[in-house]
Amino acid sequence: MAVAHPGNVDVTLRVNGQTRRLQVESRVTLLDALRDHLGLTGTKKGCDQGACGACTVLLDGNSVVSCLVLAAQCDGREVTTVEGLAPDGGLHPVQEAFVRHDGFQCGYCTPGQIMSVVALLAAGGTSSDDEIREFMSGNLCRCGAYPNIVAAIRELVGATATPGAGPRTGGEAR
Ligand code: FES
Ligand code: FES
Repeated sequence: MAVAHPGNVDVTLRVNGQTRRLQVESRVTLLDALRDHLGLTGTKKGCDQGACGACTVLLDGNSVVSCLVLAAQCDGREVTTVEGLAPDGGLHPVQEAFVRHDGFQCGYCTPGQIMSVVALLAAGGTSSDDEIREFMSGNLCRCGAYPNIVAAIRELVGATATPGAGPRTGGEAR
């Protein structure tokens, strides 16, 4: 029988529609709980300090950077990771749009990008490329796939490209 560590806390999460119970140190982040305790490695760790967006998941339907949220804060709450978007093994429409538009290169930032887009669509979309870029500004892509990411999102929201707005260049800071 496992012996409870004095510093551990019991946490019950609803992850991708399933109840998951775990015992973690109180300092464990949601990101580490997902990756290291639940084996959901689709959520990526980039900076581990809230700066890159690679770890973005939905918490009660809102996008959060999971490296800045403690697992213990999520007790009883609903978490959606990239693995939960298309449970039947297919692709979610956002994933399909990223494939159609080559919205990734190495793919490391892609789960976080996709979760942010899902949140954007849930919030009602947006009407311009500038607003898309603003909404997505917390998701960095070191490969510079920004133009194609914006194109994928534009298709999903049915937005019109901002007149005169050129594509982002590869290494452009966000
Ligand atoms: S790993 Fe969380 S924002 Fe970078
Ligand atoms: S596709 Fe490589 S970091 Fe974005």
